Amino acid sequence: ASYVAVNISSPNTPNLRTLQLGDALVELVQALKKKQHELAVANNRYVPIAIKIAPDLSDEEIENICRIFLENDVDGIIATNTTLDREMIANMPHVTEAGGLSGKPEFRKSTDVLAKINKIINGRIPIIGVGGVDSPMAAAEKIKNGASLIQIYSGFIYKGPELIKNIVNYL
Ligand SMILES: Cc1cc2nc3c(=O)[nH]c(=O)nc-3n(C[C@H](O)[C@H](O)[C@H](O)COP(=O)(O)O)c2cc1C
Repeated sequence: ASYVAVNISSPNTPNLRTLQLGDALVELVQALKKKQHELAVANNRYVPIAIKIAPDLSDEEIENICRIFLENDVDGIIATNTTLDREMIANMPHVTEAGGLSGKPEFRKSTDVLAKINKIINGRIPIIGVGGVDSPMAAAEKIKNGASLIQIYSGFIYKGPELIKNIVNYL
């Protein structure tokens, strides 16, 4: 693996997201870093760990998460997973369905969280921007708001591999 993503933010697994908060996060991050260093020595290869967070976090929670990541040398932050918010699709037919909402409707929310993280992290940890990237402009917006890398999930489903080419050409 070039890196390992640790997902503590899927809304589809009960109680998973509580790992993003307080002592549970400190314990998790410290255990991951300990194992990472043991494996780096054993295999003579350091594999970065990127932790993936939710868009449904308060400003205070974002600040705490960033502080814990900085204090423990987390290698990357993936912002963000899907959202539980339904405000942006309020009048849509399937709005009452459970689970995480992805794609274009969560672009603004995930990008706002990315921007908040970027303001605190200020270049000290690379951030992977994900959530609603469905066009070259959306990709550029992620970069403008602090993403060093971009991931695409829903956009790839709807637009196909050409989206990657279009984004690369545009950037
Ligand atoms: C069908 C589906 C399954 C997903 N499964 C996972 C998962 O297992 N782990 C995870 O961290 N994120 C998962 N995600 C979240 C995506 O990786 C991504 O963070 C999110 O969909 C926002 O990006 P997008 O708008 O490009 O889809 C999933 C998303 C979708 C739509």
